[in-house]
Amino acid sequence: MGRLIGKIALITGAGNGLGKATAQLFAAEGAIVYVSDVDGASAEAVVAEIATRGGQAVAVTADVSRGQDVLAMFRTVSTQHGRLDVIVNNAGLNVRSDFRHMTDADWVKIREVNLDGVVRVARDGFDLLKASGRASLINIASIMGKRGMRQLTAYSTTKGAVTALTKGLAVEYAPFGIRVNAVLPGFVQTAMTARVLRNPAIMDALVNETAMRRLGTPDEIAKAVLFFASDDSAYCTGSELAVDGGMTASL
Ligand SMILES: NC(=O)c1ccc[n+]([C@@H]2O[C@H](COP(=O)([O-])OP(=O)(O)OC[C@H]3O[C@@H](n4cnc5c(N)ncnc54)[C@H](O)[C@@H]3O)[C@@H](O)[C@H]2O)c1
Repeated sequence: MGRLIGKIALITGAGNGLGKATAQLFAAEGAIVYVSDVDGASAEAVVAEIATRGGQAVAVTADVSRGQDVLAMFRTVSTQHGRLDVIVNNAGLNVRSDFRHMTDADWVKIREVNLDGVVRVARDGFDLLKASGRASLINIASIMGKRGMRQLTAYSTTKGAVTALTKGLAVEYAPFGIRVNAVLPGFVQTAMTARVLRNPAIMDALVNETAMRRLGTPDEIAKAVLFFASDDSAYCTGSELAVDGGMTASL
């Protein structure tokens, strides 16, 4: 407890799933958390839950695929605090399709959120991170950026790019006191994966491919994000941490 006392953190896509679990954990560790999501109602609900547990959080409605939303989101933080100690680039989505049948619209939709949104937040959040003097930017990539799976090729492409972006930014931002790392979750039950995991054959196949023979939980991913957000990872930048129950370790 208390590992983020005095820190100001912003998490995109924090109204549900992994972002929500991360927001709750950050608040429990003492941070003031900006809970950002395109779905403002879900962000408000997370803020209300945090408040009932005595934490401090602020809801921000922002679509990371829209440049003006991201700038407005950072203006809000700038006015209130003038700095950000932690940004978690978490917002993401998936549209499953066989690659050869993927429409231009589907590709653009995935890319605009999973890659363009991450790029925009990392670029436009720079001044606030620099103002911290000791900041951490965490990109939520995926082990799918390193593996292939049917109907996930477009998603994998964006996530592999996020991992590459993390390395470049680690080098570019280090002189400004900003560490940049990536968390690569394995399969976790959230709204994003719910539909496909309802298929028992797919669920069994995924569990069998995972050394620990189970999926992960949002809280287990949030703890890895906390590691990179806190001073426990003070000498880590450009690192990628797979949190996947050994899925990428398995042949
Ligand atoms: N669940 C998994 O198994 C898994 C595995 C690897 C990586 N990830 C990654 O973790 C991140 C979170 O995924 P999740 O499983 O919690 O998904 P989720 O669908 O449960 O939550 C995603 C949140 O992002 C928000 N969002 C979507 N588009 C947005 C946009 N344009 N701007 C702002 N917010 C937006 C949604 O409203 C939602 O609240 C994503 O980047 C995802 O790719 C998830």
